[in-house]
Amino acid sequence: MMDHEIQQQFIAIRNSQINYYRKVPLYYKVAEDRYALYKPPQKLITDLRINENRHPKLYISQDDRIEAIKELQKGFNQHIAQSIEVGDVVGVKSTLCDLVEETLAEPRSGTLKALPETVDTLVSGYSKHPEILKTFAYISMKDYTTVIHSVNVMALTIGFCFFSGYSLKETKRIGLSALLHDVGKTEIPQKILKAPRKLTDQEFKIMQQHPKIGDEIIKSKNAIADNVSQGALQHHEKLDGSGYPNGIRNISFEGQLLGIIDCYEALTNEDRPYRRAKNPLDTLKFLKHDVEAGKFSRKLFEKFCYSLI
Ligand SMILES: [Fe+2]
Ligand SMILES: [Fe+2]
Repeated sequence: MMDHEIQQQFIAIRNSQINYYRKVPLYYKVAEDRYALYKPPQKLITDLRINENRHPKLYISQDDRIEAIKELQKGFNQHIAQSIEVGDVVGVKSTLCDLVEETLAEPRSGTLKALPETVDTLVSGYSKHPEILKTFAYISMKDYTTVIHSVNVMALTIGFCFFSGYSLKETKRIGLSALLHDVGKTEIPQKILKAPRKLTDQEFKIMQQHPKIGDEIIKSKNAIADNVSQGALQHHEKLDGSGYPNGIRNISFEGQLLGIIDCYEALTNEDRPYRRAKNPLDTLKFLKHDVEAGKFSRKLFEKFCYSLI
């Protein structure tokens, strides 16, 4: 082995994200399991080289993973702000999904701390271009994942907050709570999350742990305010006490609102493993049964319906 070659664990990076890496060194493969330095820390690869694709497939070191996620988040946040400025809804959504995907890969390493800035950018941008929000949750993406679900729930929630006339500060806090409501699912096995059938009792028990896991990740690993984690902890609780994880009836406002929007989004979106998507109107009719049964607040549900118009 030559002395400039390094033996560590390496992770391939996406070509579209190369110029987000400044602090982090980049590597290329010289042979099976052997890598060499391509770009030292604190340097950028020139745009020209990137545009002309004049570089080999590039990698980061496993040791730089957290730093790399932080640089990506910064780049994504800037890109989102620019896309909002020019009214590029598809660009905003796909960049946001990339950002959330990267962030949720390591939620226990403090990476969630970058998300308040993202939500701030979105809320401020939307208040200038509210038309973006109307179509946002309905732009379809390749496959339906927790990331896309979370991003859609956040968009519908911010729309609700604008409709209700909440302050920007409140809207940002509730929007962040929405974006993070299912963060606990990052620790539920894929096999259960993607099961193409109804879950067994045992699997459902495991799935039901995600609110508590999410609450813990947000509070203890990322030091984000307590009232943001309420949404994660309580979005599956029901007013008649039939929900989980605690079966409480006294549910916070965030828990109640996210409970309604979470169900609405899950039902309207396609590609759920075991059933087909419903259209918005059928979904609202369906949810009305739950309102009648005392599971959701009627007042909140009606307000949410109006916010969709
Ligand atoms: Fe959930
Ligand atoms: Fe959810």
